[in-house]
Amino acid sequence: MDGNGRWAKKHGQPRVFGHRNGVQSVREATEAAAELGVEYMTLYAFSTENWGRPKAEVNALMTLLVQTIRKEIATMNKNNIRLKAIGDLEQLPSKSHKALLEGIENTKNNTRMTLVLALNYSAKWEILKAVKTLAQEAKDGKIDPKGISEATFDDALSTKGIPHPELLIRTSGEQRISNFLLWQIAYAELAFLPIYWPDFRKQHLYQAIIDYQNRERRFGKTSDQISDSE
Ligand code: FPP
Repeated sequence: MDGNGRWAKKHGQPRVFGHRNGVQSVREATEAAAELGVEYMTLYAFSTENWGRPKAEVNALMTLLVQTIRKEIATMNKNNIRLKAIGDLEQLPSKSHKALLEGIENTKNNTRMTLVLALNYSAKWEILKAVKTLAQEAKDGKIDPKGISEATFDDALSTKGIPHPELLIRTSGEQRISNFLLWQIAYAELAFLPIYWPDFRKQHLYQAIIDYQNRERRFGKTSDQISDSE
């Protein structure tokens, strides 16, 4: 969800104005995805690197998070949407952490779509954590290092049980991944949209999905092999 700050600047407003307007885009994206039958959507809301921003902006983002979660729980329940989170959640301010856990608990039985918030998340942090967990288990004799498979590694990540993304969308025109789901996006299709996040509307998701549907996902195979198996 990139470009909130630049969007605010374009409108002659402080950066926080961009984040506040970004909440409407979160609603649009979530509603559109649920309506289309998307089962999992992950939003990169706060990276581990984002702590380096000015304190006032970090505080404003954390407050916005608490407010948005509290405000949207009823709508999520009405629409059968389950909230989840990935990242180093315990390091979040206690108020944000509490609101997040409440949101997760209150929506845990919903089944239509899972909305995953990446908060205080960094893919390198997550991969290192998984490596340490598996190394410790091997040291303790609980697992055989030779038996570590992609599936074992998947289960050691904070995305355990969440399917790998098929499509990754980044707004604002930047064409990089910025430490997001590095392991999980090995075969994801990438879409870089030239709009700032607060301008994101349902139509943008529809278009990105149409573009995705017109791509050929070969997973390392040849085009002929893919069309023969269809
Ligand atoms: C990136 O734009 C955006 C963020 C770091 C925050 C995203 C948060 C929201 C949209 C708030 C609501 C979220 C939820 C899930 C409740 P940027 O600030 O990096 O923009 P810039 O690159 O133009 O400076």
